[in-house]
Amino acid sequence: MTNTRSQAAADASEMKEQYTLGYSSQTIRQLQRRTAAKEAGFLLPHLSAGMCLLDCGCGPGSVTVGLAEAVAPGQTVGVDIEPSQYRSAWSQEAERPNINLHFGAADVYRLPFAANTFDAAFLHNVLSHLRRPLEVLKGIYRLLIPGGVIGISHPDFSGQLISPADPLLERDHELYWRLVEHNGGNPAIGKHQRGLLHDAGFVRVEADAKYSTIATQDGVRMRARHGGRLFGGSAIAQQMINLGWTDRTELEQITAAWRKWSEHPGAFMANATVTAVGWKE
Ligand SMILES: C[S@@+](CC[C@H](N)C(=O)[O-])C[C@H]1O[C@@H](n2cnc3c(N)ncnc32)[C@H](O)[C@@H]1O
Repeated sequence: MTNTRSQAAADASEMKEQYTLGYSSQTIRQLQRRTAAKEAGFLLPHLSAGMCLLDCGCGPGSVTVGLAEAVAPGQTVGVDIEPSQYRSAWSQEAERPNINLHFGAADVYRLPFAANTFDAAFLHNVLSHLRRPLEVLKGIYRLLIPGGVIGISHPDFSGQLISPADPLLERDHELYWRLVEHNGGNPAIGKHQRGLLHDAGFVRVEADAKYSTIATQDGVRMRARHGGRLFGGSAIAQQMINLGWTDRTELEQITAAWRKWSEHPGAFMANATVTAVGWKE
């Protein structure tokens, strides 16, 4: 796949940070399928009842609710820069009186908490959208008590595997990559997480990586529909067109390429997710 990082990084250097995925109901529905067992399974063994936990960039909060169950009766706080994201999770909060969960609006660059407040912190798919991830991690380090633990999990799209190959699907990858970078993020941040936690001050940092695969008929069809939607009429597509990187004709060709790929009996796709856990001394 073409790596356009240097060009895109240059393009982005003067630009503001922007959350690439946006807040469409479709995107929110997708995020709501996430669970703590799946997305935070690497951190759960390090959590225990009574801990006070911070979930930064919690989105619709489906993972946050599971984390709150793991530390109850300890308090869990989910924060996101966009309050509409976690509104859907409020009902779950009310339905589960056994958990101690609160949501609030906050920018991860300016978290409104005192030093040494939390026993644990979690970030899932947030740092990949931020221009200054190290600054955020240093801020969270301050908020943790000595002995506190942080768990972070982000994709690394430089490890994407796809078959059968198609130049239009490579173009999809290249366009999305370039847009994330243009908006201030890093689509290949996964591999850097251990180093980032170390640089933020954490000791005994452990990291791991896993591939999530799309290799069933239903999975392949769903991925193709997702690809079609992203490059069909979404805000992401519009942003790419406004930037002059592509046009409707090419995006329709990409959508058709996804459909063709999904009809291939051997269609396969896999992406790497890297997790890292660190402790404050
Ligand atoms: C891909 S979503 C992940 C949501 C959630 N962690 C999950 O895995 O389901 C990224 C989230 O980060 C939030 N976000 C982006 N920039 C932020 C910032 N500067 N401060 C707080 N949240 C931010 C977005 O609003 C969005 O809800």
